[in-house]
Amino acid sequence: MAGRQQKTDVRRLDELFADEPDRLGRLSFAVAGIYFDWSKTHLDRALIDRFVERAAQASFAAARDALFAGEIVNPSEGRAATHVAERGSGAPEDVDLATARRQRMRALVDAVEAGAFGDVSGVLHIGIGGSLLGPALLVDALGRRSATLDVRFLSNIDGAAFDEAVKPLDPATTLVVVVSKTFATAETLANMESALEWLRSAGIADPHGRLIGVTAAPETAVVAGIDETRVLPFGDGIGGRYSLWSSVGMSAALALGWDAFEELLEGAAEMDRHFRFAEAGANVPLLAAFADRLYVEDYGCQTRGVFAYDERLRLLPFYLQQLEMESNGKSATRDGQPVGRPTAPVTWGGTGTDAQHAVFQLLHQGTLLVPVEFVAVREGDGKQDPDRHRQLLLNAFAQGAALMQGAASDDLQRDYPGNRPSVTILLDRLDPRTLGALIAFYEHRTFANAVLLGVNPFDQFGVELGKEMAVALSDGAVEASLDASTRALIEKAGV
Ligand code: F6P
Repeated sequence: MAGRQQKTDVRRLDELFADEPDRLGRLSFAVAGIYFDWSKTHLDRALIDRFVERAAQASFAAARDALFAGEIVNPSEGRAATHVAERGSGAPEDVDLATARRQRMRALVDAVEAGAFGDVSGVLHIGIGGSLLGPALLVDALGRRSATLDVRFLSNIDGAAFDEAVKPLDPATTLVVVVSKTFATAETLANMESALEWLRSAGIADPHGRLIGVTAAPETAVVAGIDETRVLPFGDGIGGRYSLWSSVGMSAALALGWDAFEELLEGAAEMDRHFRFAEAGANVPLLAAFADRLYVEDYGCQTRGVFAYDERLRLLPFYLQQLEMESNGKSATRDGQPVGRPTAPVTWGGTGTDAQHAVFQLLHQGTLLVPVEFVAVREGDGKQDPDRHRQLLLNAFAQGAALMQGAASDDLQRDYPGNRPSVTILLDRLDPRTLGALIAFYEHRTFANAVLLGVNPFDQFGVELGKEMAVALSDGAVEASLDASTRALIEKAGV
């Protein structure tokens, strides 16, 4: 295998196929309408046994039981992680609360559909990070043909983002859904103020009356001027990056319809059942974590590339970046000790086939080994030319084969070393149920990685320092103690 950082004692993937006639059968799985294939990775029987043993040593089964029982699995914040309760698993009181909150959300969706807000043609969804990436993925993936409303997503503090988001919307028929777990995030509050001003200057008599608030801090949303009847609470135990199942999914439920939202939850629940009950060697989120750990820890890979071979899934890499990097980009264990091994790699990616013409050179011939994940959908959207869809899928499969097989040449510049791993995830179709299962798969894979590493995937203290410094700078606290480089930048920019 080529590459400076890679193991040299490694077996070639094509040899593994030759030696193990049952390899494909053992390393491919169909779960919840999704086919997963790890046969083009270096996982073999011995490695899987080794990882199963490591999972046992890390008390994986007990950790998973604790997650699904609604126990405290986020010790640094003293909380359970209750996103699974939104899908029906968890402590009974968490499931009851999730159900009650969902009924409240549904009542508001019904009210919008029944005309309680007059004509509604668009939604401006304001939020950032976990308060936006999930709903944006859902609407972009599932709403292209069927969305009944034009949903625009707004996150950045940059005023240009605001202008672009509201451009296609008519203030007279737009609802503004403000999503923030804390209802204290600077960007979201600034964008909410701009949205109110936008409504006001368009002559809307009661701009606050067009606002829906989604938050785990309902009192703060009420103080901000949103009427209590339009505040949809969600649980404190739901982290932003795990929250699309809750009322955070309000914009998606409005655009896609309530039935679609329920189906999304059902698909996730199916993956939950698989993750809870499938044995370790055949448990897809756990196997994915084994491959993740193998490439990061044994092969020194610092990144993982995710390529969606379907335009409808173009936002998936962005969603996964937050899910995986904010959850497991840690250096300390859940007990506050140095973790002692590399944790989350950088998740990056793009859309196929575009990426083939931009970054795949490095994947095939570069000196860095990048485990690749292809995510594709067997059925097209029914609207496009089926032959185009066929070409799309064949391109994905060809890339996986080429990465693995390579092509030897005496001319080093034209040599493809091959033996480069990839995983293929093939959805039967892109419907709410299957997408729900796919996202839940990624959540559980993240959790499984965290258990193997001994880190807490549900806190994110690493994001705080930069926020605090931005506030301090904005308050004019440019003290002499600030480094010379930053002081010069502030001076040069004149801010
Ligand atoms: O800064 C990171 C973060 O706290 C994420 O974890 C979160 O999803 C996002 O900001 C938005 O936070 P909030 O929902 O409280 O506005």
